[in-house]
Amino acid sequence: MNILTVASRKGGVGKSTAAVHLAVALARAGRRVLVVDLDAQANATMMLTDPVEKPPPRTTADVLAGRLDLARVIQGTDIPGVMLAPGAKELTEATLYAQSRPGGTTMLRRSLKTRLSFDYLFIDTPPENVIAVTNALVASTHALVPFTPDAGALFGLAFVREAIDEIVSSGLNDGLKFIGSLQVAVDERVKLTEAARNDVRRAKAELFVSEIRTNSRFLRCVGEHRTIFDIERGAGGEHKGSSDYMDAATELERRIRGRRAA
Ligand SMILES: Nc1ncnc2c1ncn2[C@@H]1O[C@H](COP(=O)(O)OP(=O)(O)O)[C@@H](O)[C@H]1O
Ligand SMILES: [Mg+2]
Repeated sequence: MNILTVASRKGGVGKSTAAVHLAVALARAGRRVLVVDLDAQANATMMLTDPVEKPPPRTTADVLAGRLDLARVIQGTDIPGVMLAPGAKELTEATLYAQSRPGGTTMLRRSLKTRLSFDYLFIDTPPENVIAVTNALVASTHALVPFTPDAGALFGLAFVREAIDEIVSSGLNDGLKFIGSLQVAVDERVKLTEAARNDVRRAKAELFVSEIRTNSRFLRCVGEHRTIFDIERGAGGEHKGSSDYMDAATELERRIRGRRAA
């Protein structure tokens, strides 16, 4: 099973959007996927369900507080092949509790002991909550960092790379690999400047060849509780959000199998 943490120290760089849309893209390609929402803001959860209309009975807060195994909080979604371990505001309290306990960084990994039959888990993480991000990375096979091409974009990446190095070298999870960074909200008319490209090279960003173009339809996902695939279905014109994420998901699978995109 591939377990991917989607992380960055920066907020608003497209983490939740990427976690959900890569998962849904892979489900459309026939894979069985689970989205694990570790962010108290629960944006990924809100793209896949309406938690106000149907409040989740159990959430990942129960997992990080050590009350339930991950398998016990999984619920279905309306999207075939996509399951969800929902996040909720109680995660703030649950992570404080985890932080105060010995073994608090391995709560998620230890909650995975019930066998799960998914091809991919995508873990969405908050930018600032270090204990939640650490729990995700300790439980993962891979980490992916989305970023928007603006000033300071690579700060969020450097933090994640340092966290990975620390987790690997401390022996907490020596199989953890950085799978690359995905550029989102790319303005086709404004290419990365030479300086930014040099920064990306120096940061060993392992940039994906696939890019997610700027697309205002993504702004509707949380409020309408649906993904770009649903929003673009039946919409006229080019379905660029759907095709960008299908391409990125294909590249992600290729990278995981060890064949870098050309
Ligand atoms: N490709 C894109 N084009 C335009 N807006 C985007 C794109 N991807 C994400 N967004 C928007 O950017 C904002 C931040 O995205 P989000 O996934 O919530 O980031 P994070 O989880 O890192 O805070 C959201 O309003 C989202 O709809
Ligand atoms: Mg988010």
